[in-house]
Amino acid sequence: MRFIHTILPLCLASSLLWGAQGVAYLNQNVTLSASSDGSKPTGELIVATSVRELGTQGEFAEVEFLGYQPQGSQLVYERMGVLMVGYEIIDPTSIQAIEEKKDEYGNVWVSTKAKGWIPKKALTSEKKSVITAGKNLFMERCGSCHALHSEDEFDANVWPNIVEGMGEQAGLGKGEKDLIIKYLQNAR
Ligand code: HEC
Repeated sequence: MRFIHTILPLCLASSLLWGAQGVAYLNQNVTLSASSDGSKPTGELIVATSVRELGTQGEFAEVEFLGYQPQGSQLVYERMGVLMVGYEIIDPTSIQAIEEKKDEYGNVWVSTKAKGWIPKKALTSEKKSVITAGKNLFMERCGSCHALHSEDEFDANVWPNIVEGMGEQAGLGKGEKDLIIKYLQNAR
C-alpha cells in the first residue's frame, strides 16, 4: 500500500510536468505562420493534431509539430503509416527533415518538424473535447440520407476518401470534413 501511495503521486506529478511542457491539441484547422503576428503563412495545421506549445506572445502561441511525411508529399501525418493528416505544407522551407525511415512495405517516411505561430485560441489541452465535437458533427450531418454508418466499418486509412466523397453530398466545408475524419480515425 505504501508503494501505491508513493507511485501514484509521482505519476500525477510527472503527467503535470508533461502538461506544463505544453502538449496541446488543435481545436480547429489553423494557418501556421512564420511570424508571431500571424503573417507569412507556411502551412495549415489540422484539427485534433497534437503540438508542443513553446511560448506565447499576445494572442499568438509558438508551436512545434512533429510528424511523418511520405517522401515528396505535401502532407505530413501524425503517425508513420497512418493517414491522419497533421500538417499541410504551403511553404516547403517551413519544414525540417529529421530522419528517413522505411515502413513494412518499403515506403520511405521522413520524420519532419514544423515550427511557427498560430492564434492561441486554436489550442486546447483537451483532445477529448475536440473528438466529441467531431462526433456531434458526424451524428448531425452523416445520418440524414442513410442510417449512420458505424465508426469501425472502415479503418483510419479508408475513412478520409469516404468522407471526402460524402462531404460533397453533405455540403461540408474542409474544416468540417477534417473534423469528422479525425473523429472517425480516433473512434477506436
Ligand atoms: C445527401 C445525402 C448524403 C449525406 C448527407 C451523406 N451520405 Fe453517405 N451516402 C449517400 C449515398 C446516396 C450513398 C450510396 C451511394 C454512394 O456510395 O455514393 C452513401 C454511401 C455511404 C457509405 C457507404 C460507402 C461504401 O463504399 O460502402 C458510407 C460509409 C457513407 N455514405 C458515409 C457517410 C458519411 C461519413 C457522411 C457524412 C460526412 C455521409 N455519408 C453523408 C448519401 C449521403
